[in-house]
Order: sequence, then structure tokens, then C-alpha cells
Amino acid sequence: MKKDVIIACDFSSGRETLDFLDSFGAGVKPFVKIGMELFYAEGPQMVRDIRARGHRIFLDLKLHDIPNTVRKAMKVLSGLDVDMCNVHAAGTIAMMQAALEGLTRPDGTRPLLIAVTQLTSTSEERMREELLIDAGIGETICHYAANACKAGLDGVVCSPLEAGMVKQATFPSFLTVTPGIRFADSAADDQSRITTPARARELGSDYIVVGRPVTAAADPVASYLRCVEEFVK
Ligand code: C5P
Repeated sequence: MKKDVIIACDFSSGRETLDFLDSFGAGVKPFVKIGMELFYAEGPQMVRDIRARGHRIFLDLKLHDIPNTVRKAMKVLSGLDVDMCNVHAAGTIAMMQAALEGLTRPDGTRPLLIAVTQLTSTSEERMREELLIDAGIGETICHYAANACKAGLDGVVCSPLEAGMVKQATFPSFLTVTPGIRFADSAADDQSRITTPARARELGSDYIVVGRPVTAAADPVASYLRCVEEFVK
């Protein structure tokens, strides 16, 4: 598995997204993340259009429902020819197994399937007081990652700072897909636990997810290539 940079295409319309991708020219086809906002606004045709342009796609819809519903929803998504999908590990091992079954096509192929452990917006205090989870956040993330591993998933979304402990709780090639990336000289925006692409590489991330440092840059193509240079090369 080769490390790669995934651009979070957090745009509200298809036009804006396609204009952004056009700026890369014919020779550069970044791996892109399509989230709920764009998917709900534009529907599955947007995914097909981006795929037809030759991009790899992480469809970030974070499914979380009863196993039967998730299995059937994943069966639909398996027809979209994306490269990566995700679910919430909080949906239980049975739900993650159902997701995997639904995603697997009749010929045995399937997109990578990863799990969200605890969202970075959830603090240890909120976990304890609202979700009644007394374990620490690190322990919870490792436990959820181990559950995802038991269910047969390929990896988890986590902070680059957690990549090492997730791999220890699972195995070295269990994928860590990590947002919270900023260049040493760029703004943190609303992210609090950030690292540079170079540091994420040292910490063992397999894929970095980068949004605003690329999408809001004066020269997005140059910023993307800088990420690739720091993280992949
Ligand atoms: O613009 P920025 O680089 O902060 O974008 C990061 C992307 O990763 C966004 O799409 C955000 O929703 C996503 N993400 C995150 N933290 C998580 C999970 C997903 O920032 N824990």
C-alpha cells in the first residue's frame, strides 16, 4: 500500500468542485474525499462524474444504523465504484460486518472500508457526561479500532498523533487515515490537534486528509504538490 494525500472537497456545489478539480489540469488526478454536504446536494451522479474524470474517491458518509440497513445501503454504494467508504465503529462489530458484506461485490472486490472511532469534536468530558463512557479517549479509540479490526475492516480515521497506538492495538498494516493536517507556516483554522504532512508520515499515517490548506490556498495545485512532496516522497 502506497501512502497518499486525499483532498477533502468540502464544497457546497458540484460546479465549485469540478472547477476546483479542473485547476489541476489533465496530468494530476488527486485522490478526493466527498462528504455528506456535497453528496446530499448533488447525489450519486456527482460521484460518477468525478470518477469518470479519473479520480480515486473516499466517500465519507459515516454510516451508522442497524446492521440490515447498513448492509443494504452499502450494497448500493458498492455500485458507485469508489475506493474507500466509512462507518461509525460505535454501530458495533455486527454492524461493521454487515457493512463489509454489503460492500463486497459478487466478484469479491470491494472498496476499502474504514471506521470512525470517536469524532475529534467529542471531548473526553462529553464522552463521560453525555455518552456515559468512562474510559479515556485514547483507550476508547484503541478499543473501537480493535473492534473494527475484528470485524474485518481495513482501518480507521484518526488523528496522526493516534496512528502509532492504533497500529499497536491492531496490526502494522491496519490503515490510519488522518485529517488535522497543516503546513508548519499555515493557519490552524478550527483544528486543534494538528501536524504537518512530514510529521504525519513519521508518525505512521497511511493517508492524510487535507482540506483548507489546499482548497483555500492561493495556489491549490502547488499546495497539493507540497503535501505530496512532504508526505509521499
Ligand atoms: O479543512 P481541513 O483540512 O480541516 O479538513 C479536514 C477534513 O477532514 C474535513 O472534511 C473534516 O470534516 C474531516 N475530518 C476531520 N476530523 C475528523 C474526521 C474528519 O477534520 N476527526
